Amino acid sequence: MKAMVIRSFGGPEVLEYQQVADPQPRRGEVRIRVHAATVNRVLDVSVRAGREPQRHPVLPLILGVDCAGTVDAVGDGVTLWKGGERVAAAGTMPLEPCEESGAYAGPVGMMGIRRPGGFAELVCVPSRVVDALPDGLGFHEAAVALRHVPTAWNLLCNEARLKPGEWVLVMGAAGNLGAIGIQIAKNVVGARVICTAGSDARVRTGTELGADHGINYKTQDIRDEVLKITGGKGVDVLYDNIANPEVLPKAFRAIGMNGRLVTAGAHGGPNVTIDFFHLYDRRITIRGTPGHKHEDVPLCLRAVAEGKIKVPLAKVLPLSHAAEAHRMIEADPGMGKIVLDPTMG
Ligand SMILES: NC(=O)c1ccc[n+]([C@@H]2O[C@H](COP(=O)([O-])OP(=O)(O)OC[C@H]3O[C@@H](n4cnc5c(N)ncnc54)[C@H](OP(=O)(O)O)[C@@H]3O)[C@@H](O)[C@H]2O)c1
Repeated sequence: MKAMVIRSFGGPEVLEYQQVADPQPRRGEVRIRVHAATVNRVLDVSVRAGREPQRHPVLPLILGVDCAGTVDAVGDGVTLWKGGERVAAAGTMPLEPCEESGAYAGPVGMMGIRRPGGFAELVCVPSRVVDALPDGLGFHEAAVALRHVPTAWNLLCNEARLKPGEWVLVMGAAGNLGAIGIQIAKNVVGARVICTAGSDARVRTGTELGADHGINYKTQDIRDEVLKITGGKGVDVLYDNIANPEVLPKAFRAIGMNGRLVTAGAHGGPNVTIDFFHLYDRRITIRGTPGHKHEDVPLCLRAVAEGKIKVPLAKVLPLSHAAEAHRMIEADPGMGKIVLDPTMG
């Protein structure tokens, strides 16, 4: 098969489009013929550049922390999947052969970092982490959906327990988790959504995605605006994922009684000063939770297939253009998702 392999860390030129042996599914594994794998700023570009040693990438490495495609072959013990089914898989998974269900006590790691990833015509993954794609959801959108939607879903639906009619303030309106968060809050939960961002254009992106109100924190005071919008009550949920030390302290003081702050990211920080008086006075809960619950994935994919959530798919390129994709993301980290499709060459 053709695969995009790195043998050393460095610039985009270390990505080599090569002929390698087809991977063989081990016990409990499914081999997927890949139609889509996303390119990510941290998990692909920074790993390739050698800036993520704490993730312990294993060289030589086929990058790609997710994949969507069709089942191509199955290993011993696999009963859940058969050839031709449309599926996707992503993220952290067992590294050793394992049964389809039940306890697994062995080592785990991300595909594309600790085990071969989706930048290839074929990839093997444990059956237990594979999800079926609903009708109407294409491979390219599915790969992008898996990257962001379950994390946002987990934060809003499981961690914050956002309810219909509650107020939520979404930070980073035009970012990946922000844009998805707005749509889950509005279209799935039925909450009232205020979004904020650091430019009028990015605020507009948020309101066009369905936010009821938008605040440009560069020109407006977040707390004053939130209190005006909510009739002095403040928001029930603050959904952050950025930890901007200039902005989060003000947004924190816009949280109302029994409010919840949820987050899975801190790329704008990580150190932020918060008002502890406001924390205890308003009985606020802070929950930091990366990742997602696997049982939420079918719900997330269905919401995307039904058009309740639009994913930020910017470009689809052949797998052989991976180095170009990495250069594009390095030049413009906010450009939206690039998907590599090995069936295009
Ligand atoms: N699957 C996932 O998506 C996932 C899972 C777990 C964790 N995370 C983490 O969640 C965070 C958000 O991910 P994302 O993909 O949504 O991020 P993103 O789209 O790259 O950025 C979100 C927003 O952050 C603000 N921002 C960007 N760079 C900044 C900087 N240097 N300082 C301050 N603000 C900055 C921008 O908003 P404004 O300038 O308009 O405020 C931007 O729109 C990241 O830390 C990521 O590692 C993501």
